[in-house]
Amino acid sequence: MHPKLLSAVAFLLSCAAHVHALSPIFFECQKQKPGGISPLLGCPEGTIFVSQTDPKAHFRTIQSAVESLREGPAIILIAEGSYDEVVNISRTDPLTMLGQLPRHATLSHKPFANPQSANMNLVQIWFNNWVMTGEDDDTSAVLTVAPNNAAALIGAGTDGAPLQPVFGNVDFKMYNIDVQNRAANYAISQALATDISYSNASFYACAFASYQDTWYTGKNASTFMIDSVVFGQTDYLFGFGTAWFQNTIFANRACGGGLVAWKGFNQTYAPGNRYGAYISDSTIMRSPDANATTVTDGKCFLGRPWNDLAITVFLSTLMDDSINPAGFEPFDSARPVIMNTTYYAEFNSSGPGGNTSERVAIEHLLTAADVVAEDFTVDGVFLEHPKWIDYSYIL
Ligand SMILES: *[C@@H]1O[C@H](CO)[C@@H](O)[C@H](O)[C@H]1NC(C)=O
Ligand SMILES: *[C@@H]1O[C@H](CO)[C@@H](O)[C@H](O)[C@H]1NC(C)=O
Ligand SMILES: *[C@@H]1O[C@H](CO)[C@@H](O)[C@H](O)[C@H]1NC(C)=O
Ligand SMILES: *[C@@H]1O[C@H](CO)[C@@H](O)[C@H](O)[C@H]1NC(C)=O
Ligand SMILES: *[C@@H]1O[C@H](CO)[C@@H](O)[C@H](O)[C@H]1NC(C)=O
Ligand SMILES: *[C@@H]1O[C@H](CO)[C@@H](O)[C@H](O)[C@H]1NC(C)=O
Ligand SMILES: *[C@@H]1O[C@H](CO)[C@@H](O)[C@H](O)[C@H]1NC(C)=O
Ligand SMILES: *[C@@H]1O[C@H](CO)[C@@H](O)[C@H](O)[C@H]1NC(C)=O
Repeated sequence: MHPKLLSAVAFLLSCAAHVHALSPIFFECQKQKPGGISPLLGCPEGTIFVSQTDPKAHFRTIQSAVESLREGPAIILIAEGSYDEVVNISRTDPLTMLGQLPRHATLSHKPFANPQSANMNLVQIWFNNWVMTGEDDDTSAVLTVAPNNAAALIGAGTDGAPLQPVFGNVDFKMYNIDVQNRAANYAISQALATDISYSNASFYACAFASYQDTWYTGKNASTFMIDSVVFGQTDYLFGFGTAWFQNTIFANRACGGGLVAWKGFNQTYAPGNRYGAYISDSTIMRSPDANATTVTDGKCFLGRPWNDLAITVFLSTLMDDSINPAGFEPFDSARPVIMNTTYYAEFNSSGPGGNTSERVAIEHLLTAADVVAEDFTVDGVFLEHPKWIDYSYIL
């Protein structure tokens, strides 16, 4: 190769090494700027800037920026940093939170969710609450998107906390931000990264980390996640609402319970509902940060039914050998049978853990025709073409 071409290739590769997948809409705004240039260059008018160090910052903490918001859509740009705080979004109007991208980011990118590297964003939001006896799970969440405290409650039993006649954020978006519950480096108890309840929310190139109950999509909530990473051990996706996970990595830090522990609802409560967890074109693997002494081979289950109407569907997902051949397991010894009212399904799984020959009999092993007939698509499960998803995001 010509030396000039070689150096051009080397330059492109060095750029690519820094770059995350991104939103073309916010790319210029998110890029860090050289000194003397406004960090808000390229941002939509009215964007609020949060930084722990930059004198141009409007706020030093994310929550103080959230609390300053008046009515109407809002955008908050967050500078590189590790933010030790709980973030609580109770407003109903649209809100977009952007994490800064490296200054040399280019549109020639690679996916953020890359099994070969444990990517980190420049922005981390973290806290370390875990649930003590008698407390509601929601007390531990690092990021809460819910209209009020009653709506954020998770509750116990098959039906959880009482239904609330409210709706929160109609369009919450988060790009290139890590949300971490750092309560412990094992499953100390419920320690949530998120509680998204009675809201519509979407996430792009984000990471969510904990051990137990990392991700919660609550009642009446609809969530969409793409090109992201979720770290956990026990029941680390749970909820009542509808959640679609696209091109996401699920990183098993150890095994316990199931990856997904969903609660379904009958059609009396919400006619036509397709509440459930839908995982598409994703990867389930032993976490790159799993303790070296922790054995995961064949020990992690795809799910267990938190109630008997649980719905969980895996589409075209790569599963490594941490997955137990049976796939799903009963909830616990008090409920030793997976009832046929659950709906557990898989289509086109691959990898050593994707061998479905020894799956529990109750599971539905789908054909391509079944997937079409059941309409397992984003529009199909949200019962419409969601207006709150950014379809311009480039993988
Ligand atoms: C979040 O804010 C709302 C409104 O101020 C409040 O009702 C709720 O208790 C807060 N929730 C948490 C978890 O702090
Ligand atoms: C949301 O909750 C209300 C109860 O407050 C319920 O009647 C309604 O069916 C729910 N809507 C959806 C879309 O789930
Ligand atoms: C549906 O759920 C409601 C509320 O939990 C319950 O009262 C009702 O009996 C259930 N209906 C069916 C058919 O299971
Ligand atoms: C890794 O596991 C060993 C053995 O169980 C334990 O002693 C050690 O504390 C663990 N380390 C971490 C970081 O969890
Ligand atoms: C099956 O999954 C693989 C990725 O593992 C994908 O490339 C292929 O398109 C999928 N097939 C169908 C029919 O969706
Ligand atoms: C579900 O299981 C019950 C017994 O628990 C049985 O009566 C019923 O026929 C089963 N339904 C289906 C569709 O298999
Ligand atoms: C799947 O697992 C079964 C049972 O262990 C084994 O016989 C079969 O060869 C496996 N299939 C593939 C494609 O590895
Ligand atoms: C939330 O999303 C669902 C599914 O896209 C939609 O039906 C509902 O109207 C949305 N709610 C609001 C308040 O925008």
